[in-house]
Amino acid sequence: SLTVDPAASGPAIDDTMYGVFYEDINRAADGGLYAELIQNRSFEYSPADNQNYTPLTSWENTATGGATGAAEVVDDDGRLNERNRNYLRLRLDGQGGPDARFGVTNSGYNTGLAFQSGEKYDFSLWARTDQAAGTPLTVNVHDTAGKPLAEPLEIAVRGDGWTKYTGTLTATTTSAAGRLAVSAGGSGTVRLDMVSLLPQKTFKGRPNGMRLDLAEKIAALNPGFLRFPGGCLVNTGSHEGYQAPDWERRRSYQWKDTIGPVEQRATNANFWGYNQSYGLGYYEYFQFAEDIGAMPLPVVPALVTGCGQNQATDDPALLDRHVQDTLDLIEFANGPATSPWGQKRAEMGHPEPFRLTHLAVGNEENLPDEFMERFVKFRDAIKERYPDITVISNSGPDDSGTTFDRAWELNRQHGVDMVDEHYYNDPQWFLDNDQRYDAYDRNGPKVFLGEYASKDNRFHNSLVEAAYMTGLERNADVVKMASYAPLLANVDSVQWSPDLIWFDNQKSWGSTSYETQKLFMTNVGDRVVPSTAAPGTGAFRQVVTRDDATGELIVKVVNAQDDPARTRVDLGMEADPVARVTTLQGDPAAENTATSQPIRPIQSTFDGVGRTFTYDFPPHSITFMRIKP
Ligand code: AHR
Repeated sequence: SLTVDPAASGPAIDDTMYGVFYEDINRAADGGLYAELIQNRSFEYSPADNQNYTPLTSWENTATGGATGAAEVVDDDGRLNERNRNYLRLRLDGQGGPDARFGVTNSGYNTGLAFQSGEKYDFSLWARTDQAAGTPLTVNVHDTAGKPLAEPLEIAVRGDGWTKYTGTLTATTTSAAGRLAVSAGGSGTVRLDMVSLLPQKTFKGRPNGMRLDLAEKIAALNPGFLRFPGGCLVNTGSHEGYQAPDWERRRSYQWKDTIGPVEQRATNANFWGYNQSYGLGYYEYFQFAEDIGAMPLPVVPALVTGCGQNQATDDPALLDRHVQDTLDLIEFANGPATSPWGQKRAEMGHPEPFRLTHLAVGNEENLPDEFMERFVKFRDAIKERYPDITVISNSGPDDSGTTFDRAWELNRQHGVDMVDEHYYNDPQWFLDNDQRYDAYDRNGPKVFLGEYASKDNRFHNSLVEAAYMTGLERNADVVKMASYAPLLANVDSVQWSPDLIWFDNQKSWGSTSYETQKLFMTNVGDRVVPSTAAPGTGAFRQVVTRDDATGELIVKVVNAQDDPARTRVDLGMEADPVARVTTLQGDPAAENTATSQPIRPIQSTFDGVGRTFTYDFPPHSITFMRIKP
């Protein structure tokens, strides 16, 4: 039986209860959400970042009509700017006829550049030539067999100063294995940098924008918040890297590196082993959060390396600089367009503030004392200037144990607003622990469950996650925000699995946990309505909420058992006989893949609701029932 007590009032659920945790892991940014099709567009890949890289990774020489020459990446004072160190120097031998061309071809990510017939693509590059009469440049896209995928672009490069050239390509054929060739005619030296190709069709049509299908899938979750840009990505550059000059590689993720004109954003080594262009940077993340109606929730490095490395900076000047950077970040997000950092936001196209209210300092630090000492410096400086900002701390990398206990002790001692907890556990743990937060101190710091997932990507995992989420909702007075992790994974570059959304060059698909999260995130409700299920019902969990706008009760039931659960529901009030029902159901071993997504929501109506009624919750199912009073 399931008994609802509609007269009693449970905790209010904030609109920000469920959100997404976006981390640039599994090539979530370049080769993923960032719509740029060219890999290594500014020739900055380095073996120092990844031993398989060279500055010409994903590029190869190309020649037509008998042209010869040499393509070489150089780092000298002829560079585009101080933050974009390398460029490509093409030496042209003047061989072949007037149409002869020598240059380089880019193979993009995964199978190649994805083109959709009829769609337009914005090409741009920076170039200079030592030829007084200029240098002709041909840009064409083709497939691996050389078949053209669009009419080529002809560009005349003039002058020996860096100039940006642009053009539009219209795809005539659909392909997931495109190549882009940039080649030059004549003789002499031509220098190229920032070779870019972006589809015009991006999320909300934003230039330098986001891949449509991925952004739409995230938006469809109706996230209450967007935590970005990581994870371990944020605070775990090599420790020495903290000391490096601005253009140096291997720095932790620092927001100032990621704003302004894209050609001035220094690329960086990434904790997850690949290069990040920062084409998708803080401005774009704030804009995306606004576009999808999510609260932006940036994470800044705390100068204590988490994620398996035990180091804390003891350089006070460095710490002060990072504290100041964080204050500047708040000004960048919220300051008037006349303030120094607000002006930079306005220059990038957003004079209105981004309404930042929450910010996290650090991620999974496993030196709780060292972390707290530094966290407090950030927190106090922020609170002094921006008292309304919620500054989020964390409980380290584990969900239990000595470090966890010490971290919580310190968080309580220092009156921290909110603590970020993370855990990736076996499925059974989620079933056994849905009462975890029942015992949390109602007067202590609130909880942000910033990362969790049960290990594996099958429907069984989603069932236990759903069961666990009923416990999160029931404790919405303590657990203020929660996000499954990680969000995105490129099938060709997987550092972490399970993940919520998978993709290749052309398509994307939601895991069974994506469908589960979506169901919860689009049916949150505003207040918990207390309910009980008869004891001894095994893997059966429930929570009931009320939607203030419609007055509906949302009955959420997880039946992870092998048998149907015939349930006598006592609503404790009269109700409309017809309920809208959404069900996820299937084989617990089922997995949503590129070619088949067996676990999808099934919509139905149930015409049998009354003050009391009987309902058969199918085996291995998650059921959401919206009942009108
Ligand atoms: O979500 C993947 C990683 O898991 C995150 O980077 C880190 O915070 C956690 O350990």
